[in-house]
Amino acid sequence: MGESMTGLKRSHMCANVTETMIGENVTVMGWVQRRRDLGQLLFIALRDRTGIVQIVVDGNTAEKTLFEKAETVRSEFVLAVKGKVSARTDGNINENMKTGKIEIIAEEIKILSESDALPFQIEDSITVKDDLRLKHRYLDLRRPSQLKNIMLRHKVVQVIHSFLDKEGFLEIETPILGKSTPEGARDYLVPSRVHPGNFYGLPQSPQLYKQLLMVSGMDRYYQIAKCFRDEDLRADRQPEFTQVDMELSFVEENDIMDINERMMQKVFKELLDVEIKLPLQRMTYQEAMERFGSDKPDIRFGMELKDISDIVKDTEFVVFKNALENGGSVRAINAKCCGNFPRKQIDSLVEFVKTYQAKGLAWIAVNPDGTLKSQIAKFFTPEKLQEIVNAMQAEAGDLILICADKNKVVFDSLGALRLELSRRLELTKSNDFAFLWITEFPMLEWDEEENRYVAVHHPFTAPMDEDLELLDTAPGKVRAKAYDIVLNGYELGGGSIRIHRRDIQQKMFELLGFTPEDSQERFGFLLDAFKYGVPPHGGLAFGLDRIIMLMSGASSIRDVIAFPKVKDASCPMTDAPNVVEQKQLQELGIDIIKVEE
Ligand code: AMO
Ligand code: AMP
Repeated sequence: MGESMTGLKRSHMCANVTETMIGENVTVMGWVQRRRDLGQLLFIALRDRTGIVQIVVDGNTAEKTLFEKAETVRSEFVLAVKGKVSARTDGNINENMKTGKIEIIAEEIKILSESDALPFQIEDSITVKDDLRLKHRYLDLRRPSQLKNIMLRHKVVQVIHSFLDKEGFLEIETPILGKSTPEGARDYLVPSRVHPGNFYGLPQSPQLYKQLLMVSGMDRYYQIAKCFRDEDLRADRQPEFTQVDMELSFVEENDIMDINERMMQKVFKELLDVEIKLPLQRMTYQEAMERFGSDKPDIRFGMELKDISDIVKDTEFVVFKNALENGGSVRAINAKCCGNFPRKQIDSLVEFVKTYQAKGLAWIAVNPDGTLKSQIAKFFTPEKLQEIVNAMQAEAGDLILICADKNKVVFDSLGALRLELSRRLELTKSNDFAFLWITEFPMLEWDEEENRYVAVHHPFTAPMDEDLELLDTAPGKVRAKAYDIVLNGYELGGGSIRIHRRDIQQKMFELLGFTPEDSQERFGFLLDAFKYGVPPHGGLAFGLDRIIMLMSGASSIRDVIAFPKVKDASCPMTDAPNVVEQKQLQELGIDIIKVEE
């Protein structure tokens, strides 16, 4: 149902009707935000993506049929309205609205389409479950906050295109149907009909293609690239996400970092009018872990970790003793002004760190009078306790939280605890942006489950020249020419200088536990290309969704993606993934077997 718009041409978007147009005839089209009836006066707030304009139908002057039609209009009906722009009378001016000084006196209204009652209101203040919002994502996107995110995303991408074009980058598309080379996350697979039993892998990133483009001599490549990773979802992770991906030839780390920080500076200046001071702070991985317990530290607040192993090394407290004897450490943070936390709240912190494998959390509260309260007091002399307090620079009213374990557990637990406390104490503002680079990542880390080394960044990352010799003697100690750009506790992007020598690349594959046959089977095309003149090269990829999430203050990347997936990687709107027809499976030579949970 609905009238035709034939013959009607939109003259203006709703919020572009301004005071300068008073007396003019305009035609606007959009959705009914609400209708208000004041006896003979009827107001319709009409909305499109620019905003809202007020339509007035005056029963005293309008034709009866027009007035009667306007009375049937309900929320989210789609209208075309022709009328005259008029100044609002003094008492009716709304300073908070772009079009608050005018209204349109309707002369003709067409109901282009009607709407059923909505599952939720088109407002930012709704409190409905995310699943319902996402089931009707097309309605959810009508809400101003969501619309604003999508518009911001568009503008950020425009700035990036123009910036990279000026810097001499070529935008080049790379295949979505590629070769499955899982290393890190799981691949999404697409069965081939023409080659039954064979599969394409969807790209986790365009990494190998962009390196091959450097071998081709493209010199500078970029792409706003869709990437696919079959991994567990979180607020900042989707199975399908977008990278701002780039690769450059004849460059070193500094060149890549310089271009990327200038790009971020431009994006933040043009879209948020926020000045980012360059060069960005740099911190080694080692320092980030020691001070913040994280390789993506939020540096907007303190509460840094301190190693107190030396102070407690002679203790008889078994928990600390065992940790130290097993090569671990005892570290602590000073939660400023949290000394008055009730026992229940401290207990909840203990429970919190247990999710990071910590076995417990010891605490020392400094009372207002300077005396100490601690559940581990009996294991230490008062002098020892005071020494810890001094080392932590704790003052009256502070709370020291201590974790003893393997370094990894201590860092993970205290790093996360620091963030949790900042949330509880509301220490940060979302419009305060603290960027930094993390450098000198380890190249490899030992994977207990797989019983082999895995690449921390990816297998194509070059080792630092200083550490080349360690490749044979102590691979776990080799640092990589890798860098991450971090913003407010999120990894925004990461990249590296790549290996461009065939022998080192082969060596790397060996360290990762691949036989020469394995390497040739999986990455032969890269090793082959490396025979034919490879420029030194490197690059980086940003998570576009994360950039927009942080710029917009959204709490999840779901709110900055037009059609995101939910936790179990499904789409509540389309019900993807779905069961397919038997005929489709037959063509692919696929038989479905029941998989045990
Ligand atoms: P990396 O794996 O670090 O590097 O990914 C680069 C950036 O992509 C974003 N990102 C994600 N965003 C949303 N959902 C996800 N599941 C997800 N996974 C990653 C992050 C991350 O920093 N090819 C290399 C880059 C390079 O070396 O040039 C790569 O993909 O913001
Ligand atoms: P227990 O002797 O196991 O009862 O531990 C004594 C106190 O030390 C408890 O309050 C625990 O929360 C705390 N604790 C236990 N394990 C650790 C640990 N790994 N690091 C710091 N404190 C711990």
